[in-house]
Amino acid sequence: MSLLTLCYIIASVTFIIGLKMLSNPATARNGNLIAAAGMTMAIFGTIFLYSYYEEGVDKPLGNYVWIFGGIIVGSIIGTLAAKRVKMTAMPQMVSMFNGMGGACAALISMVEYDHIIHHTNGEGQTGLLIVILLGLIIGSVSFAGSMIAWGKLDGKIKDFAFPGQHIVNILILLAIVGLSVYLAVNFSPDQSYIFYTILALSLIYGLFFVFPIGGADMPVVISLLNSFTGVAAACGGFLYDNKVMLTGGILVGAAGTLLTVLMCRAMNRSLTNVLIGSFGGGKKGVAGSGSKDQGAVKEITLSDAAVVMSYANKVMIVPGYGLAVAQAQHACHELEKLLDSKGVEVKYAIHPVAGRMPGHMNVLLAEADVPYEKLLEMEQANEEFPTTDVVLILGANDVVNPAAKSDPASPIYGMPILDVEQAKTVIVNKRSMKPGYAGIENDLFFRPKTSMLFGDAKKVLQDLATEIKSI
Ligand code: TAP
Repeated sequence: MSLLTLCYIIASVTFIIGLKMLSNPATARNGNLIAAAGMTMAIFGTIFLYSYYEEGVDKPLGNYVWIFGGIIVGSIIGTLAAKRVKMTAMPQMVSMFNGMGGACAALISMVEYDHIIHHTNGEGQTGLLIVILLGLIIGSVSFAGSMIAWGKLDGKIKDFAFPGQHIVNILILLAIVGLSVYLAVNFSPDQSYIFYTILALSLIYGLFFVFPIGGADMPVVISLLNSFTGVAAACGGFLYDNKVMLTGGILVGAAGTLLTVLMCRAMNRSLTNVLIGSFGGGKKGVAGSGSKDQGAVKEITLSDAAVVMSYANKVMIVPGYGLAVAQAQHACHELEKLLDSKGVEVKYAIHPVAGRMPGHMNVLLAEADVPYEKLLEMEQANEEFPTTDVVLILGANDVVNPAAKSDPASPIYGMPILDVEQAKTVIVNKRSMKPGYAGIENDLFFRPKTSMLFGDAKKVLQDLATEIKSI
């Protein structure tokens, strides 16, 4: 076995171990580092140990100035982007990076197509051409789609749809498949125009595929496009007979697919409904099913909230997107410790799609060193609400909206929610009566058990802590 093969095997194993460790917040950071170390080994192994056979001799890869130039520029941009990004803008960054992966896979296909044209007459290359075309199509759909997803999440691009768009999409897809089959079967070097037509159609398909999908569904779309990029990278692994690229691509493809399925399940929606349902985004700010006159909400003062929580046996905190916006995770942990010191049992109820990306709340709370055992998944939390005295909702809205259970006309109908109303008292902190991401009103705020505690989450938590200390 060559040293390079050994590098690839070790790297593949680190990817699998890393992925496994990523599934638990306590080991996620180290899992990430282990997989990154494996990737570094695979990259440097390829640069220095790979050789190709030409004119009777083994030649090293060469082109070191280009390779290291690219690595240095890419590393600087990547590091700065990752260091500067705000937690709330993380989904956009993931989308941008994913798009770059798709673009790389498409570029590999273009280079290899050029290689076939100039170095062979195309005979006996059908298998290779199929893989090249797959990498080109999937990679460019992923690139174009991810760029639109990035623009939408960043508020730069609005939803866009025209009548019959789904039919146009299907026609474009059929044209891509038809042209690809034709090129793979009837290849001749003077038909590059077909290859580049397929590239153009794939880019257009990527744009049209994501444009009409509602803003709230972007994380699901990103996860799906992420799995596309994995498959496109695996095609690159096939082309170069590079096992580690193949393994990495397949792992990304499989993980992305699983995550997509899990997110759809957490919202109780099918993938088709996500892709053509146009949920959220465009409906933002529109009062939905809850637009009927519900009367006035009841407010609670800081000192009353402090008293209710101090004398409770059990308090359940429900974090949501607003907690991330306010960067109130540390203040939240302080309040939790304070209540703990007064003998109050404090836990967190984590909805699987709270926030804007998978695991958003777990990452946020881990940043503030909240112990993992205090975080309850939705099912566990729902079992504990009936024995909870106070639920403190911090910047969460859709994930506690009872319309998901009771109003078939609601866009979130069927989504499993946190059953906060099972508790004795519900205190909701947000800044106003504005809706959450799905753009619909929330009946919970008008229910008899609920009291509103308006204000920015961080300021409210700090003031609450001051009040509790003085009790
Ligand atoms: P949202 O329903 O978006 O509600 C967040 C609330 O936070 C808003 O109503 C907002 O009200 C409040 N807020 C904003 N800034 C605040 C601040 N500084 N202090 C206090 N409150 C603040 O959030 P959620 O309950 O976490 O639900 C997540 C939504 O995203 C769901 O619709 C879900 O389907 C969707 N989504 C999530 C994912 C993933 S993977 N997480 C994927 C796809 C879709 P004010 O403006 O009045 O303050």
